[in-house]
Amino acid sequence: MSEKKLRSRGWFGKEGKDGFIYRSWMKNQGYPADEFDGRPVIGICNTYSGFTPCNGHFRELAEVVKRGVWEAGGFPLDFPVMSLGETLIKPTAMLYRNLASMDVEESIRANPMDGVVLLCGCDKTTPSLVMGAASVNIPTIAVSGGPMLTGRFQGRSIATSDIWRFSEAFRKGEMTQAELTEAEACMSRSNGHCAVMGTASTMATMVESLGLTLPENAAIPAADSRRKVLAHLSGRRIVEMVKEDLRMSKVLVREAFENAIKVNAAIGGSTNLVIHLLAIAGRMGVKLDIEDFDRLSADIPLLANLQPSGKYFMEDFFYAGGVPVIQKELIGKLNSEAITVNGKTVGENCKNAVCYDADVIGTLEKPVKNLTGLAVLKGNLCQNGAVIKPSASLKPELMKHRGRAVVFEDIDHYKKKIEDPDLEVDENSILVLKMVGPKGYPGMPEVGNMGLPKKVLDKGINDMIRISDGRMSGTGFGTVVLHVSPEAAEGGVLALVKDGDYIELDVAARRLHLEVSDEELAARRAEWKAPDLGYDRGYVNLYIKEVNQAHLGADLNFLRGGSGDVVTRDSH
Ligand code: FES
Ligand code: MG
Repeated sequence: MSEKKLRSRGWFGKEGKDGFIYRSWMKNQGYPADEFDGRPVIGICNTYSGFTPCNGHFRELAEVVKRGVWEAGGFPLDFPVMSLGETLIKPTAMLYRNLASMDVEESIRANPMDGVVLLCGCDKTTPSLVMGAASVNIPTIAVSGGPMLTGRFQGRSIATSDIWRFSEAFRKGEMTQAELTEAEACMSRSNGHCAVMGTASTMATMVESLGLTLPENAAIPAADSRRKVLAHLSGRRIVEMVKEDLRMSKVLVREAFENAIKVNAAIGGSTNLVIHLLAIAGRMGVKLDIEDFDRLSADIPLLANLQPSGKYFMEDFFYAGGVPVIQKELIGKLNSEAITVNGKTVGENCKNAVCYDADVIGTLEKPVKNLTGLAVLKGNLCQNGAVIKPSASLKPELMKHRGRAVVFEDIDHYKKKIEDPDLEVDENSILVLKMVGPKGYPGMPEVGNMGLPKKVLDKGINDMIRISDGRMSGTGFGTVVLHVSPEAAEGGVLALVKDGDYIELDVAARRLHLEVSDEELAARRAEWKAPDLGYDRGYVNLYIKEVNQAHLGADLNFLRGGSGDVVTRDSH
């Protein structure tokens, strides 16, 4: 490609006053004049933050990416964007995914970069970066930060999924606070994001299976030196991608989305994939529906024996061969001709993959579980759909079940009632939680796998059907129906459920039905009042007005699509 076509020339290639302004201040960093001679300028989009510990090693990782960029003759410049850590951000990091994506989009578009490397790690840092970059569509490569090493506590392996087990053990008096405190340090003993197939690992797998990363991106532990090798090579590769004009739109085609959905089913990935992938497709203008997730995962069994659906940890997944092994096993079902950022097809990238541990990664003939990764339910309770992850259920017999609803009007009501010994509930009841959807909470928090009532736990029961318009942590498990759309705050039928109503779940038939007549529902609707959500200013007010429902990806309506990379006016 001739240097004139590089978009950075619209800044650094100028003469006179504009060129002076664009270059002179850059030179205060000590860059020689020939740095501005028309070599590709590579942005490194950094989600480092002291408040996002999963991405705490990203300043160092960015330096490694730079080594590769310099080596390939590019000019690397890193820039910070809003960073979303799952653990600290209240009320939920998801409330800010779309805001962060706007930061990413406008930072890329407004600055003189020809290609961009996205440093993603903790859950929302991946979709927010990919969504923002997709709306600009310059050559883009993602590098994930990698999972933590497996935790070790009292002689056994632990990771994030154990939090839910520890918390119930603590409530039952089987674990002390001192033991919990010790486990905190034992679990998080190295750099990196959650060490199971939670949402962060699901997102790292998503970018790899979409073709947005070099092969093996998802599984290499953050602490393994090969994570740096991948970052270094990605720095080299983005410079070539700029020369080849390999833009995101050439990689993120419909076939790539189909591949990501299939790989996700095989790894038992997080239900959050549904929302994030729909949002990314919306940015790219690729048609993708919630039904696609069900249809495309239907004949794909669970191949990866990883928590929370299985037994092992991300570290084990890496040693067993990682995502390329999964892709090779699925190759007859994938769009193997889809192009990836290294310029090769999916088929070429995985053809030499070897599985080194058949207990960690199964085969289509001998899968870990036959249950499909994700099922999309329909019915009067979720007219636009709801999602369940059958492989995460602890009681497969609940896949077909009829039970009495125990209703919580919102999260505060749930917290108040759940320990009440007089709560009328048993293991056959169905827990229904309202007002935890995109608008209702707001921000659609990960509370859908709500803890069970103590009196049920005390009987040794560990799973019940739970239904809500919220999400669930990718590390969570149980028979949990999520993402009910339309949500309660929008006046979905979920808002009309009352204690004692009967609900029927039939996952095989993809059905979620509230056994209340249409007449009775109409009468209840006449009495229903839209809740006052209580935000009259700022971003949250904008979010509540503009956010679309879960079955569309919960993006802001005005952010769908893209504005491209052209900016014609100068700054002075
Ligand atoms: Fe950051 Fe789990 S909290 S990945
Ligand atoms: Mg999470």
